Amino acid sequence: MKITIVPSILSADLTRLGDQVLEAEDAGATAIQIDVMDGRFVPNITFGQGVVKAIRQISDLFLDVHLMIVEPEKYLEEFADLGANRLIVHQETCPHLQRTLQTIRDLDLEAGVALNPATPLSAIEEVFDVADVIQIMTVNPGFGGQTFLHNQIDKIRRLKQAILSVQEDVRIAVDGGIDADTAPLVAEAGATILVAGSSVYNGDADVKTNMTKIMKKIGK
Ligand code: DX5
Repeated sequence: MKITIVPSILSADLTRLGDQVLEAEDAGATAIQIDVMDGRFVPNITFGQGVVKAIRQISDLFLDVHLMIVEPEKYLEEFADLGANRLIVHQETCPHLQRTLQTIRDLDLEAGVALNPATPLSAIEEVFDVADVIQIMTVNPGFGGQTFLHNQIDKIRRLKQAILSVQEDVRIAVDGGIDADTAPLVAEAGATILVAGSSVYNGDADVKTNMTKIMKKIGK
């Protein structure tokens, strides 16, 4: 299956966010991940509906909105109306996860669910039929530039096997500490959507150079 690098704008230069989105597009990105944080589920507050609306106005990229917020079910329709293409909710904030994912699909968006590093796969094994993407957090969410948690690689591998066993069309995303060194590790384990923030935007070079460096390590 095709492996894609999805830049996360969390680490972009927010004084020129529009340019940074277009630079990612120019570098070959077909999607970007927008990290929405509420300061309650995670320690940070970042951006919300206004940034999704603004980016939609300047780019046709696939908008992957990562809702690191409590009560995400309250905001699904609004983000859909603003132009999101995928909504990723956290299992840890969704007591009615099956209904929340089904609601996202009913809005004609892709439905994703993210798992924090300490959350077991058993928490999402009953929703493979209503999830398009399962996102394995390879850091504890809330900040960019953190160290990759290598113990999540086995979790990715086990998730891949679980999906194969039920023959559902579910893709595996990973998010946190993805760079030229860790990208091949998670790709080999079965991830096909690699979210990368600081390695794309805070790297030693421009966005295109940073993305190319990662893509080369996964044979793209
Ligand atoms: C959760 C965020 C970050 C971000 C990527 O904290 O979701 O994982 O997207 O951050 P990096 O790639 O800098 O670890």
